[in-house]
Amino acid sequence: MRIDIVTLFPELCDSFLGASILGRARARGLFEAHCHQIRDYTLNKQRQTDDYPYGGGCGMVLYAQPIADCLREVQRQCAAAGRGKPHVVFLTAGGQPYTQSIAKRLAGCDSLTLVCGHYEGIDERVIEAFGDEEISIGDYVLTGGELASLVVADSVLRLQPGVLAEAQGFQEESHWDGLLEYPQYTRPEVWEGRAVPPVLLTGDHEKIAGWRARQSHERTMTRRPDLYEAWCRTHPLTPGRWKRSERAALIRTEAEWAAAAEIYTAGWQQLCADVCTADYLAAHTTDFMKRELQADRAAGWAFYLHSTAGEPDALVGVCHRTGEIGRLYVAPQAQGRGIGAKLLAFARKKLAEHPRPFLTVLDCNRRAIALYLRMGFRPAGVHAVYDPAQDPAASAFCRELKFVYTPSENEEGAR
Ligand code: ADE
Repeated sequence: MRIDIVTLFPELCDSFLGASILGRARARGLFEAHCHQIRDYTLNKQRQTDDYPYGGGCGMVLYAQPIADCLREVQRQCAAAGRGKPHVVFLTAGGQPYTQSIAKRLAGCDSLTLVCGHYEGIDERVIEAFGDEEISIGDYVLTGGELASLVVADSVLRLQPGVLAEAQGFQEESHWDGLLEYPQYTRPEVWEGRAVPPVLLTGDHEKIAGWRARQSHERTMTRRPDLYEAWCRTHPLTPGRWKRSERAALIRTEAEWAAAAEIYTAGWQQLCADVCTADYLAAHTTDFMKRELQADRAAGWAFYLHSTAGEPDALVGVCHRTGEIGRLYVAPQAQGRGIGAKLLAFARKKLAEHPRPFLTVLDCNRRAIALYLRMGFRPAGVHAVYDPAQDPAASAFCRELKFVYTPSENEEGAR
């Protein structure tokens, strides 16, 4: 790959591209980089590169001509080297937001030219005439495009084959594609009283991979819900197959109601422990919950009990009147086996007459929210708010969110 940077500060850009990992890769010929001084292409005696903006206003605007002539020279050099026409990117605060997926796309260019603006901007006509796209590296304004062009160059060049010492870095990245990285630790094992998470010292690679995956999901969900939602859209959960020993059946017998009430009560108590008062929790005995389930049944709900090898271990309810799915609880010993996902898909099929079934979930129930997102449910507002200042049963502020099944186009076809 060849990268050209068109700038008023070529030494600055060149010194960055000559240092550290990129510098070594450049010296090994893994990519070519050329930094061009815009001033060298001026036609006036003072070698002036900018002027006042038409229409008034503060700051100066870079002339179109020196940038255009510099870009023509880059095109000429590329052609002389047997390369195609370079892909030209202008770095501007008003460009499209830069992302890793744009970096991957640009990494596929044989020749990439980055043009750095300065002062108040660049004459729009040269962007129109030469620019393939405009990129911004974030919602803040820099004094010039140099740092932005180096951010783009760095993120694109590290993707070139051989640039990163450990090819592993790549594989990891594609594996964690779209999610934030898990936390990393190195020696010593205990630093200023803080120990490395014990799982990392076990040598059990499967366990470590599982821990890292959970960390990665948890971090993305809490720090970057926007990224997590995008990730969920591109990684829909395919409901697992039912194993031979597993079945879900409509609750009919007294023993089944009792088992369902047990699973429901234990799950509900655990979920609500941090947000409801002790009195409210204590009032929700298994008997009380059983009566609640049966009252719901009388109001149009159907409840299904899931069991593995005859042992009840999960519960789900559907309301044919409204299209709501609820009471999805998996007993602790059965968690992590995909039963929640299977029961959710099962519930949706039971509600075939409702193309957009919905459910509600407390905002603190991250595990369930992650499952719903991956199963094609999307946030659809706040269903209720529990505020200790107004609700005597609440011990902490929390929201009950509504999620509606909103499959993507290809999932829609598969329904
Ligand atoms: N020039 C000034 N601010 C910028 C930004 N945020 N991204 C890219 N180029 C810029």
